[in-house]
Amino acid sequence: MSQQSPLLFAIDRTSKTPIFEQICESIRRQAHSGRLKPGITVPATRTLAGELSVSRSTVVTAYEQLVAEGYLQGRRGAGYTLCAIGSVELPASKITAVPMESVPQLELKPLAPSEPDMRLFPYRQWAKAVARVCRTEPEAMLLCDETFGNLALRQAIAEHVREWRDIEASAEQIIVTAGASDALNICLRTLIATDQSVGIEDPGYQPITQLLKSQGIRPVWLDVDQDGARLPCSENQPTAVVITPSHQYPLGGVMSPQRRAAYINWANHQQGWIIEDDYDSEFRYGGRPIPALAGFDALHRTLYIGSFAKIFSNRLRLGYLIVPKSLIDPMRQTMDNFGLRAGLMPQQALAEFMRSGDFYRHLRRVRKRYNERRRFLVEQLKAGFSQFGTVQDYPAGMQLVFHLNNDLDDREVAQRAQQLGIGVETLSDSTARALHYNGLVLGFSGYSPEEMRESLSNLQQLLSR
Ligand SMILES: Cc1ncc(COP(=O)(O)O)c(C=O)c1O
Repeated sequence: MSQQSPLLFAIDRTSKTPIFEQICESIRRQAHSGRLKPGITVPATRTLAGELSVSRSTVVTAYEQLVAEGYLQGRRGAGYTLCAIGSVELPASKITAVPMESVPQLELKPLAPSEPDMRLFPYRQWAKAVARVCRTEPEAMLLCDETFGNLALRQAIAEHVREWRDIEASAEQIIVTAGASDALNICLRTLIATDQSVGIEDPGYQPITQLLKSQGIRPVWLDVDQDGARLPCSENQPTAVVITPSHQYPLGGVMSPQRRAAYINWANHQQGWIIEDDYDSEFRYGGRPIPALAGFDALHRTLYIGSFAKIFSNRLRLGYLIVPKSLIDPMRQTMDNFGLRAGLMPQQALAEFMRSGDFYRHLRRVRKRYNERRRFLVEQLKAGFSQFGTVQDYPAGMQLVFHLNNDLDDREVAQRAQQLGIGVETLSDSTARALHYNGLVLGFSGYSPEEMRESLSNLQQLLSR
């Protein structure tokens, strides 16, 4: 069953671990134990393939993987040699694929909005990125001489927003933050004095209202219509506005080009600031990607907030803020006083993860899955819930809105749904004023169709009563 090679390892053909991965693991182990010394040439791919009776391409795949992880250097045809290994040890246990069912879905509460599905998280690839940083540059996880965060990550973010959001920015304009809320906090501390006001969308993301109030900043409510957030009315001019032009939270629409242009004019005339909260923009499922407003404005008076919470994990607590060049110095002052809140340890690994392409493979994979789930939820609501209200179908994001008929009260429905373990939220709770919105915010990203099916059936019964 097992075969020995001069590299002194065995492959097990009965194992579920692919053969190329067994080859990788064995070389990693021998490199760490010191049995293989740095600089040594490993057997040629043809030789090892012959000794193990596997195809040559299997060995090439394994060697290329080890090159990508920093264990080997060289290339096909010219031979591969072992690199020096950093002083940080890999854990003794093998890095293996995590079976989906063994990954806990923290607080699984079907239909709760904005939850990424952690069962789709690429644990194995992430572990490799972390292990590679541990081996090759462990100091990058502990030390940072940059006020704005890890430089490699900021460079990766600059490339990401250029490709995905049409924003041209250099790494020096980018600050790594502990999520979107932390980014907003940094903006407020830099731009707004306590007696000034900030325009925020209503309906909107209510923690923003709380954040303003906690800093003694007056909110100016921005109504939302079919073109997106409306401009502040003339007698009540805020110093800045916080808006979600790519995907209004929670209603879901996209801001029209005319409204975007009007905001840019507003900022120029008022010397105001636009804070663009682009919290889940990578999740667009139809049509062309909608460029960020910050790109239209060439980051003149727009500050751009992005987050890894939705693409990656709410628990990672990493996001970023991109600022106009004119604000780099004031931001540096804020960060010197306030300190970097984003955890340093995962930053280099995330940069690695983005550079290797694993991040984008993950993004493509979850986008496809979330879109299937969105379509499922829309179909179910159209087929079985039309007597209770109407579904708003925007092909974007991680949640959608079901507007309830007037004889139903969203808060009462949500409260009863919570008792059945259904985590819906309400439009009423997303408004700061009494605006008479009445609807449910239903998340689809975190749950399989089967998991949603049962909750929808319970919700349907509840609404019929
Ligand atoms: C519109 C909006 N802004 C900001 C946030 C906060 O993002 P983070 O968790 O990265 O702080 C959220 C979270 O769901 C959101 O929906």
